[in-house]
Amino acid sequence: MIAALRIAVLKETAPGETRAAVTPETVKKFMGLGAVVAVEQGAGQTASITDAAYSDAGAELGPAEQVLKGADIVLGVQAPDPGALVGVNPGAMVAATFDPFGNRARVDAYASAGLEALSMEFMPRITRAQSMDVLSSQSNLAGYKAVIAAADTYGRAFPMMMTAAGTVQAARVFVMGVGVAGLQAIATAKRLGAQVSATDVRSATKEQIQSLGAKPIFVESVAGIEGEGSGGYATEMSEEYQKAQAELVSGHIAKQDIVITTALIPGRAAPRLISDAQVASMKPGSVIFDLAVAQGGNVEGSVADQVVEKHGVKIIGFANTPATLAADASALFARNLFNFLSAFWDKEAGTVTLDEEIGDAVRLTKGGAVVNERLQG
Ligand code: NAI
Repeated sequence: MIAALRIAVLKETAPGETRAAVTPETVKKFMGLGAVVAVEQGAGQTASITDAAYSDAGAELGPAEQVLKGADIVLGVQAPDPGALVGVNPGAMVAATFDPFGNRARVDAYASAGLEALSMEFMPRITRAQSMDVLSSQSNLAGYKAVIAAADTYGRAFPMMMTAAGTVQAARVFVMGVGVAGLQAIATAKRLGAQVSATDVRSATKEQIQSLGAKPIFVESVAGIEGEGSGGYATEMSEEYQKAQAELVSGHIAKQDIVITTALIPGRAAPRLISDAQVASMKPGSVIFDLAVAQGGNVEGSVADQVVEKHGVKIIGFANTPATLAADASALFARNLFNFLSAFWDKEAGTVTLDEEIGDAVRLTKGGAVVNERLQG
């Protein structure tokens, strides 16, 4: 008889992290594959999941050292320090977000510890991996929350209201960066009744913006703009484009009440989209939400987890936006992890064997070495 694979889940320790990497639902699903799931006591507390809910689902609850003992797979939202993974089986898989470009030291430490680090941020953008993609699932929630937080900070209403005391004008919302987060931001702002416009460097987003009933704001005058790099990600734009974009956007921003910025370029600092002078051009009382604040910020002057007031404009941004929706964010993150591992699960053999396309993309370390192509050189 083959020993069941043991999955360990610890309470997250990163500051401000509220999410959990498994939910009672995914505990049951992993058990359906023949796994044993061990969860550290209190791991779900900040995501509104009680220890009782985990144990009712069939998980083994205990302190960290007991949970880790003999684990073949460790699941996390943010990868734990490898030094904390005492007692796991040699070469155990750890599936979590690693921030591989931002925290190279941790990747090296995983290699030294002989663990197999699987970085969920490096999931390839292919159709069959969509259900495994934590960046998408978490960005979607972040885009929603950015609008809700901006609306809450804004001293006026979003929808147009015709009242006996007069008319309240609809808020003008401008979304910069129309990936997963941006699309959800547009949809949320529309639902709240705002007048919404949006821009991106990828021309493919133009139709998506229109299909949500928002107005696309695009640089048309510079030839040869595509803006799409590999895997649907943005590339860094030419100087000429950046200048044209800045001019177009400057005129537009000055008329907005709310701006939501979401622009990211993988492996680089977030592109600067709004300068201090552009902030100054906005009306007092306007609100900017910088979703890229943790990656260096799209907006000059934004500070994570603070409301910065500049020229009468409030600039906000959370270091970890999905963590502010811990229950839903955990549910989706946990399903992403389950969809990922279950796709490669061999129930009879009691093994998980990743294929080349996905395995080579997400694997950072194995056999004592850093093996990921994106981290070489
Ligand atoms: P992201 O989080 O890397 O970037 C957010 C957005 O900012 C992107 O749309 C990007 O083009 C834009 N951006 C970058 N620089 C900019 C600038 N200077 N000005 C304005 N906008 C700028 O992207 P995200 O949200 O992760 O997704 C990008 C695309 O990939 C989407 O089309 C999405 O549908 C696709 N995707 C496909 C997946 C799959 O097939 N498995 C999974 C996830 C996303």
